[in-house]
Amino acid sequence: MNAVDYKLLQAQAESLLSGQRNRISNAANLGALIYQELPEVHWVGFYFMVGDVLMLGPFQGKPACVEIPLGQGVCGTAAQTGKLQRVGNVHDFVGHIACDVASESELVVPLVKDGRLLGVLDVDSPRRDRFSEEDEAGLSSLAAVYLASID
Ligand code: SME
Repeated sequence: MNAVDYKLLQAQAESLLSGQRNRISNAANLGALIYQELPEVHWVGFYFMVGDVLMLGPFQGKPACVEIPLGQGVCGTAAQTGKLQRVGNVHDFVGHIACDVASESELVVPLVKDGRLLGVLDVDSPRRDRFSEEDEAGLSSLAAVYLASID
């Protein structure tokens, strides 16, 4: 069904991001790779911490909310707790921020480098329960490739 070869994707990401340490450029390219390779995903993007809010970074998909306060929505919860959020049904998540009404499930990986919260990687799907434990592990490893690629 949704078999994604995350091992291959990880190797592709490492190759794509190697030789460049700019965090915006690498976020843009990694987001594009994920968007292209994951089926049933309609939004992939980064939010970066600026002061105490998450600000929209490079993304693929429809235009989205620009600012998310820490602790709000799925992204703000991932950022505040430092814990990955895998939400099977966003309508059941109290405080979910509906940037796109078509979103049904969402996975958000906090980006922590050297103990510092940089932001989050957000992946949205129009299908309920789109993300499995395998996606959770795979997207976490792609986030780790990103974190290792930047200064
Ligand atoms: N749904 C997210 C907001 C970001 S958009 O999905 C692009 C949230 O609840 O944090």
